[in-house]
Amino acid sequence: MDLLLIQSQEHQTLPLSELKAVLETENIVSEIKVITNGLIHLKNLKNEKYINSYQILARRLGYTHEILEVITDYNLENTENNTIKDDFNKYIKNSDEKNIENQLNIIFESFKNIEWKEYINDTFAVRLKRFDKVPIDTIGFEKKLGGIIKLATKATVALNNPNSFIKLVISKNKLFLTIIRFKLNKKHFQEVKPHKRPFFYPGSMNPKLARGMVNLSKIKEGDLVLDPFCGTGGILIEAGLIGAKLIGSDINWKMKNGTNINLEHYGLTDYKLYHLDVREMKLIDKVDAVVTDPPYGISSSTGGENSENIFYQFLDSIAKNIKKDGIITIASPDSLNLDHILNELNFELIERHKIKMHKSLTRVISVITKKS
Ligand SMILES: C[S@@+](CC[C@H](N)C(=O)[O-])C[C@H]1O[C@@H](n2cnc3c(N)ncnc32)[C@H](O)[C@@H]1O
Repeated sequence: MDLLLIQSQEHQTLPLSELKAVLETENIVSEIKVITNGLIHLKNLKNEKYINSYQILARRLGYTHEILEVITDYNLENTENNTIKDDFNKYIKNSDEKNIENQLNIIFESFKNIEWKEYINDTFAVRLKRFDKVPIDTIGFEKKLGGIIKLATKATVALNNPNSFIKLVISKNKLFLTIIRFKLNKKHFQEVKPHKRPFFYPGSMNPKLARGMVNLSKIKEGDLVLDPFCGTGGILIEAGLIGAKLIGSDINWKMKNGTNINLEHYGLTDYKLYHLDVREMKLIDKVDAVVTDPPYGISSSTGGENSENIFYQFLDSIAKNIKKDGIITIASPDSLNLDHILNELNFELIERHKIKMHKSLTRVISVITKKS
């Protein structure tokens, strides 16, 4: 079985890296094909585990907006590379449109042979999503497929809350006919926006990035996860929602108590919170992973300590409290020379993503582990 993923295009590398990390963590074996920016084809998922894998991806991924089951897919002849002189640009555009629409007309004829009754349950909707600005009559083709399905099944079109949702996705060289089996809870990342939590404090991390960082740390259900600069608990909420056991601590008791209120609000119960300076941390049980956003001294206080010293002392302390091979995902400002600290403390870098927040801050997300 194949899945098609529509991903956020807000960042070049994070959505794909998050996906690769979750596939590896959850032992989902599949061939990954990047069709175009924001469109990923997962090929040949194991049949017996397929529905389970589909659900896991829908539940875990932050930077993926939709997951679709591929009914069938087609290669399209790409006319874009034809080398015809500029004078003929207008002509090329028109002939491209014709060419692609002609190809689609032939493909749509073959849609009549699909056993639609296996996919459609009483009411349905059809939507077409275009990538690469492919020049086609979107509504015309949606109606055309709707007509084919109606004729084959006698089902009725319902644009709101249909029982079956068919989606056509087209890029410059692929067409996918898909069905949505599990909806992602897109509202989740709205509902958990920091200002909607019972305890709010400025400087909280955006929940989608927090989820992405949790996933990059390859956390499994039941793993023990630590955020030693827990603030309002944004990272712990995301780790808790994917089934991790949580340890949070903060030097500020107001933050520790606020995290407590926020975790309870989201129904999370498997946690321990400490009012603690990270430099004094001595955990009885070593944790499986650490995900954290230390203070940079820009919007969140470092308690008068130089930001570089905080990172050094924090990583030194974490090295003693994390299991061998445990993954640490941290955010830092790009003005900080983290590599120098990693070298000194014998950590190795697995991957890194840069996110421009605003004019004066670029955040760097680093995924690291202790050198063996
Ligand atoms: C950037 S905020 C964390 C934001 C958090 N990710 C959130 O979403 O709310 C950094 C936190 O580190 C805490 N902090 C500063 N120095 C610390 C230290 N030495 N040990 C533990 N916590 C510290 C601050 O009180 C603050 O709550």
